[in-house]
Amino acid sequence: MGRQISASTILEVLKQVRYPGHRDDIVSLGIIEDMSLGSGGAISITLREPAESDSATRAIVGQASALLTREFGVKPEFKVRQIAPELGERTGRARIAGVRHVIAVASGKGGVGKSTVAANLAAALSRLRHRVALLDTDIYGPSVPMMFGTGKARPPSPDGQHIYPIQKHGVSLISMGFFLTDQTPVIWRGPMVMGAVRQLLESTVWGEQDFLVIDLPPGTGDVQLTLGQIIELDGALIVTTPQDVALLDAARAIRMFRQLHCPLLGIVENMSYFECPDCGERDDLFGSGGGERMAQGEHMELLARLPLYPALRESSDGGTPITCAMPEHPASRAFMGLAERVVELMPA
Ligand SMILES: Nc1ncnc2c1ncn2[C@@H]1O[C@H](COP(=O)(O)OP(=O)(O)O)[C@@H](O)[C@H]1O
Ligand SMILES: [Mg+2]
Repeated sequence: MGRQISASTILEVLKQVRYPGHRDDIVSLGIIEDMSLGSGGAISITLREPAESDSATRAIVGQASALLTREFGVKPEFKVRQIAPELGERTGRARIAGVRHVIAVASGKGGVGKSTVAANLAAALSRLRHRVALLDTDIYGPSVPMMFGTGKARPPSPDGQHIYPIQKHGVSLISMGFFLTDQTPVIWRGPMVMGAVRQLLESTVWGEQDFLVIDLPPGTGDVQLTLGQIIELDGALIVTTPQDVALLDAARAIRMFRQLHCPLLGIVENMSYFECPDCGERDDLFGSGGGERMAQGEHMELLARLPLYPALRESSDGGTPITCAMPEHPASRAFMGLAERVVELMPA
């Protein structure tokens, strides 16, 4: 038998739910708009949708529902009323005007194929006829200029304040690499890097986009944290190779996104095995099943498993993501499947 149900005991419980990524609880933030107690102990709660973000609302409803059910032994019903834009400002995370979904591609470790996945996911979404932008925030090793073959092109800035993405292979591109020169010191520290990323985000005229894919630097440093705090991410993809060290680092990245209350879309295991082009035999270079075990352990979906394909590296080095260069290649088909799943996972 649960505890006595009353408006004040319910509020007491709801005060334990914090707004995702924010230190205040949902009661103090005024997110509980209304509450009614029906016959037989039914609880109905109306929330004010704080930002336009479905992900935050889903997190709040999930947590509140679990706590109330545990406390009172009844599963509450939730309604959401959309309004209160000022609350969106108070919680601090912004949506990017004109951009419907923002997806971050992350990894714990460098060199696992994060940029390859980000570039091909963007290309695949574009082939699915979505409007797609790709932001490459990896200041230490930006890959977009090479992978998309933009050469010496620089984003136009007619007024010297706003910048317009470079269009290539159906994707609107902005990369840190467009602004770095051979003389740029690589020792930019966290705050400077963050200032640069924030400035990029703010000065870019993204236009109307269905997806913005963000290629994050490897690890769990300032850029990842600050980005997660300033913009509302709809989800993160974790890219890892099956080696234990890579998996350990990936687990750290997963924890960081959980702390940021950013929904985790799933895991992409890259360089899973090598398939001999002649005999078709598989060689598990880095051990097998690592991505799957991690997905199970973390209750995440294993979204794709990509073997090592020399053609994949060759097309990236050649300036055209394989998904555009060789649409029938098995890697391209894997990336199309990944894109389709990502679309399904987006809030309506
Ligand atoms: N599945 C794969 N098969 C072959 N080469 C790959 C594969 N995935 C990535 N690569 C290559 O490995 C290198 C590192 O990949 P990259 O995407 O730049 O990693 P990260 O962004 O994680 O540092 C690149 O040269 C890339 O072309
Ligand atoms: Mg990279």
